[in-house]
Amino acid sequence: MEISLTGIKPTGTMHIGNYLGAIVPAIEMAKHYERSLYFIADYHALTTVDEPAALRNQIYDVAATWLACGLDPERTLFYRQSAVAEVFELTWVLACMAPKGLLDRAHAYKAAAAERKDVNAGIYTYPVLMAADIILYDATAVPVGKDQKQHVEIARDLAQKFNRTFGEVLVAPEPAINEEIMTIPGLDGRKMSKSYDNVIPLWAPAPELRRLVMRIKTNSQPPEQPKDPAASDIFHLYRLFAAPGETEELRARYAAGIGWAQAKEALFTVMERRLAPLRERYKALRADEDGLDRILARGAERARETARGTLRRVRKAIGIA
Ligand code: TRP
Repeated sequence: MEISLTGIKPTGTMHIGNYLGAIVPAIEMAKHYERSLYFIADYHALTTVDEPAALRNQIYDVAATWLACGLDPERTLFYRQSAVAEVFELTWVLACMAPKGLLDRAHAYKAAAAERKDVNAGIYTYPVLMAADIILYDATAVPVGKDQKQHVEIARDLAQKFNRTFGEVLVAPEPAINEEIMTIPGLDGRKMSKSYDNVIPLWAPAPELRRLVMRIKTNSQPPEQPKDPAASDIFHLYRLFAAPGETEELRARYAAGIGWAQAKEALFTVMERRLAPLRERYKALRADEDGLDRILARGAERARETARGTLRRVRKAIGIA
């Protein structure tokens, strides 16, 4: 059975880049798998977050966001990593399969080590917990961004090493990188990213959304001059929110000469059309933390059944039954 699984780190404000580049494609992808598990990687967040109130809020923010964007918790198991404590037992077993040299070479760890002195063992063993997240549920495909590809390959290595040592017990996962996903441009033309401070927050109220869209950087061509859609971030974003016919209409307006203010107005209109109903759903979901807890607990309960089965196989294989 093909099983897709991914972890979502509960860190900070979600923005349009996350929505278009990660959330929408992952929700679409779930529809093509017999089984899918999407979880909130709350214990992974502990490697970098040390404010309980912030973490708590971010967990609910991220849960409400994915549900508002269309994650269906009936068909996709949606849960908190921390709610299935079995993952730590498998983490230890996999840690014993992980050569130190392999972890030394992990990009995320190397980057953290290059930039700060206080790298903790959590950051160092991050890929082992991530491998356990994946392997515990027999996942075959892991949709992630390019930055996480190496971590999924490490998970694959650890599963294979376990199997070579103890017999064919674990499913070796593969990264599922969607190559079509282009980089979403931010306000200044660079990739939309919190570290560049150029994001459009996903849940910005309409007036703020409009204000930010009006700030998107353009060139200084005068209104009447024909414009190149391929070189325009506004067009790029428009196309991701508009119907194909609308995109062709805007293309024609570009050729005829359109003022940047009008192009931005058109972009704001299609963005608001899509986001307004999601924003309302988000607000309602986010206001009901007990409701979110219930959804996540139900997902965890179903996930735990699979986790227990995997651990039974693992314990038997290694001689701890
Ligand atoms: N490391 C991932 C990230 O930073 C989050 C994550 C944790 C994850 N466990 C996972 C992703 C398992 C995929 C599978 O985004």
